[in-house]
Amino acid sequence: MSKLQFIVEVFRNPMVTGDILPTQRYLIRRMIDCIEISNHPLKIVEFGGGEGAITRAIVDKVERGGIGYDIFSFELNSRLADMSREKFEVNGKINGCVRIIEDDAVNMLSHLDNGIGADYIISSLPLSHFSREKSRNIFRAVKAGLKKNGVFTQYQHFPTCYSLVKEFFNDVKIRYVLANIPPAFVYTCRNIN
Ligand SMILES: C[S@@+](CC[C@H](N)C(=O)[O-])C[C@H]1O[C@@H](n2cnc3c(N)ncnc32)[C@H](O)[C@@H]1O
Repeated sequence: MSKLQFIVEVFRNPMVTGDILPTQRYLIRRMIDCIEISNHPLKIVEFGGGEGAITRAIVDKVERGGIGYDIFSFELNSRLADMSREKFEVNGKINGCVRIIEDDAVNMLSHLDNGIGADYIISSLPLSHFSREKSRNIFRAVKAGLKKNGVFTQYQHFPTCYSLVKEFFNDVKIRYVLANIPPAFVYTCRNIN
């Protein structure tokens, strides 16, 4: 049902929704394999939560690790945000909580408690549909919101934001995931300075 709802939203607003299908297993794995189960509670931000395919994988991973967590998932589309709220906010979590924030990801800083930085920012925003200036503002928010040594991941079907990634991050790893429809590049960027 939720996959179908996602596809309906693609037809309603293709430029904002970005993809034709929710992200699939191998790409999800690549997007979140940077998350290390540590001995301190994790603060994880997600951009473009959609119907929750990646949110689900993040929750499962941190719940399995048994650590405390706060997940802030930004989603502009109110129908998709409502669907995610039903899945993640209503059902009780054991070790942490998920907040679905219906706002533009660029406003992330105003939603983080006490401005404390994020350990991870996991983004599936359709950056290739954004203006250069909008994308740059997203990267500014990411840099300001990440802890030192925190990690930002982003996927794109065409590597159009590579130069922007390099403008903001020195430590960048790029991988290509063929087993997704459509295939995608994953940037994994560590905030070393
Ligand atoms: C490509 S879909 C990814 C959905 C889901 N995370 C997945 O991987 O299947 C991108 C999502 O980003 C949302 N979105 C687009 N622009 C946004 C923005 N500026 N702030 C927050 N969410 C946004 C869209 O509504 C859409 O749900």
